[in-house]
Amino acid sequence: MLYQRVLITGANGLLGQELVRQMSSRPDYDVLATAREDEPKFSGGSCGYVRLDITDERAVSGVFQDFSPDVVVNCAAFTQVDRCESERKTCWQVNADAVNTLAKQCLTFGSRIVQVSTDFIFDGLEGPYKEGDRPNPLSYYGRSKLAGENAARRAGMEHWVIARTVLVFGAGENLSRSNFVLWVIEQLGRGESVRVVTDQFRTPTYAPDLAQGIERIVRFKKQGVYHISGRELFSIYELAIAVAEAFDLDTQLIIPTDGSEFTQPAFRPPRTGFLVLKAETELGYKPHSLKDALHDLSRRLIALEEAK
Ligand SMILES: NC(=O)c1ccc[n+]([C@@H]2O[C@H](COP(=O)([O-])OP(=O)(O)OC[C@H]3O[C@@H](n4cnc5c(N)ncnc54)[C@H](OP(=O)(O)O)[C@@H]3O)[C@@H](O)[C@H]2O)c1
Repeated sequence: MLYQRVLITGANGLLGQELVRQMSSRPDYDVLATAREDEPKFSGGSCGYVRLDITDERAVSGVFQDFSPDVVVNCAAFTQVDRCESERKTCWQVNADAVNTLAKQCLTFGSRIVQVSTDFIFDGLEGPYKEGDRPNPLSYYGRSKLAGENAARRAGMEHWVIARTVLVFGAGENLSRSNFVLWVIEQLGRGESVRVVTDQFRTPTYAPDLAQGIERIVRFKKQGVYHISGRELFSIYELAIAVAEAFDLDTQLIIPTDGSEFTQPAFRPPRTGFLVLKAETELGYKPHSLKDALHDLSRRLIALEEAK
């Protein structure tokens, strides 16, 4: 067979939309996009679309029977970190139990699984992290995502990949939630100030770069753990300043604060970020610099606005 059959879950989310866009434009893949909604939220993308809630075991089994994927890329997740603290049952069902369901189906059908995971499985005391570093999640979201990683391994020997990423930003169509970079652009664009922390550090990831890394994992039929993020480590404050500068917005509206003043329901790891050498050497992964990514994002936002 010349192409791989790829099942993408959570296809209406930020990463899901980008992955559908990139993979369905290549002749190497037959893509089936799935999400909870009756219709796709994205336009274009030469792929099939089916409604799928990954917590519905019977529906998951039906999609496997109908499509028999070579590989599943699980982009579906309960990603609202603070809500995960109060909505623990739903968080666990989506981020852990549903991955177990997907992995079991993969074992039955001989499919591979790419489970997308997070820097929040680490405690943030010794970032930036490499793939073999020891997880120690601080939040319920982090615990549920770590359980999801372990569930994915049940797909069987050499049939699982864990692709971890960090603070993802980008543009999409009708996204159900914003991301940090878009939020800063929107707030400052309205002349409103933002308070951002100076004592949390990340390697921000441009969604098209993450999709590029995952596409290569699929194309090269890789196995194991990969860290896929930007290369540069910034404080959240530095990131907000870079966004304001790139979009010609007022940096004076960005008010520095720190974790002790800025409390949120879920505990955030102070210093994460990833070392991406393995992805660079094994996959030829080449992320944009933050400056170039923001420049590209501004072009994408204009194109999306014009297409409305
Ligand atoms: N965004 C980040 O900063 C970040 C950082 C590290 C890791 N990650 C990981 O990256 C992956 C992709 O996240 P993202 O940034 O694309 O987030 P996102 O935009 O929130 O996408 C997640 C998608 O999953 C969907 N979903 C939730 N429950 C579902 C269910 N039961 N069945 C099917 N779909 C369901 C959501 O739909 P609704 O909108 O309807 O809920 C949403 O469209 C996730 O695994 C996340 O943990 C993200």
